[in-house]
Amino acid sequence: MSRYNAKIIENYQLAEDFYKMTIDAKKIAQWAYPGQFIHIKIPGDNSLLLRRPISINGIDVKTGQLDIVYQVVGKGTKALSKLKKGIGLDILGPLGKGFHIPEGTKKLYILGGGCGVAPMRFVGQRWRHLDIYSFLGFRSQSTVFQLNDFECFSRKVFLSTDDGTMGYKGSIVSLLNERLSIEKTDLLLACGPIPMIKALQKVVSEHDIPCQISLEERMGCGVGGCVVCSCVIGNRKQWDYKKVCTDGPVFWSQEVILDGES
Ligand SMILES: Cc1cc2nc3c(=O)[nH]c(=O)nc-3n(C[C@H](O)[C@H](O)[C@H](O)COP(=O)(O)OP(=O)(O)OC[C@H]3O[C@@H](n4cnc5c(N)ncnc54)[C@H](O)[C@@H]3O)c2cc1C
Ligand code: FES
Repeated sequence: MSRYNAKIIENYQLAEDFYKMTIDAKKIAQWAYPGQFIHIKIPGDNSLLLRRPISINGIDVKTGQLDIVYQVVGKGTKALSKLKKGIGLDILGPLGKGFHIPEGTKKLYILGGGCGVAPMRFVGQRWRHLDIYSFLGFRSQSTVFQLNDFECFSRKVFLSTDDGTMGYKGSIVSLLNERLSIEKTDLLLACGPIPMIKALQKVVSEHDIPCQISLEERMGCGVGGCVVCSCVIGNRKQWDYKKVCTDGPVFWSQEVILDGES
């Protein structure tokens, strides 16, 4: 893990509420692994003390450039969207434990919902030699991003929108459920909002599919020192608190016990 002053190469709007930023971060790019994240200090506003965790969306090892895609949801991401080319960003990374592909995996399903689509592009870039099927869920056509990139490394892309303005109308997990009834996969990797992850846990358990999920928990330090990011890992009989920032953010689906589960 390095602390780094990374120069912004570009920062532009990709879709409604979504921005893509490319930074020059050689030391991070050379070690980064899909599912890992960077922790960004937002410059120019002293009230924004806490760093913001954002997943790595892709890297170019040759140039040392690193991409992130972020949704503007609050003060920090709004400030991030205003930053211009050439500004230096104070970042920590690469942080966390990323996705893991067990030996012998041939067919890989990847699933992302909303800003959870962002880290899955890096998965496809890194493991493009596998037989990849992508499942991407968005709110509406206006929020769809990087579809072409997914089409480049996927045998097939399944797309859904909540309002039906593009692709299947409804949840991407329903589409996955239909697909799994026809064709199984060796492994599923996923990232998305908690309600989506809960629905996914049920589907993969019913189809008995090995699945890793990336959790987005609120964070403080990002490096294991503050316990802000605890999650519950285990089973009904035996469980423990783990830190999303250092033990995760990626965990096996069947190990994650989410709030409100009975
Ligand atoms: C490991 C990880 C990877 C992430 N990757 C991405 C990504 O690739 N793209 C993307 O758009 N978003 C991602 N997020 C969510 C992103 O960190 C939050 O949306 C962002 O921090 C919101 O900051 P804000 O100041 O705009 O919002 P505010 O709501 O004003 O933030 C207030 C505080 O809450 C925290 N916070 C708010 N929402 C979240 C959230 N969903 N998850 C974690 N912390 C939150 C902020 O970091 C900040 O400390 C990721 C979160 C985690 C934990
Ligand atoms: S954010 Fe501080 S321990 Fe995870």
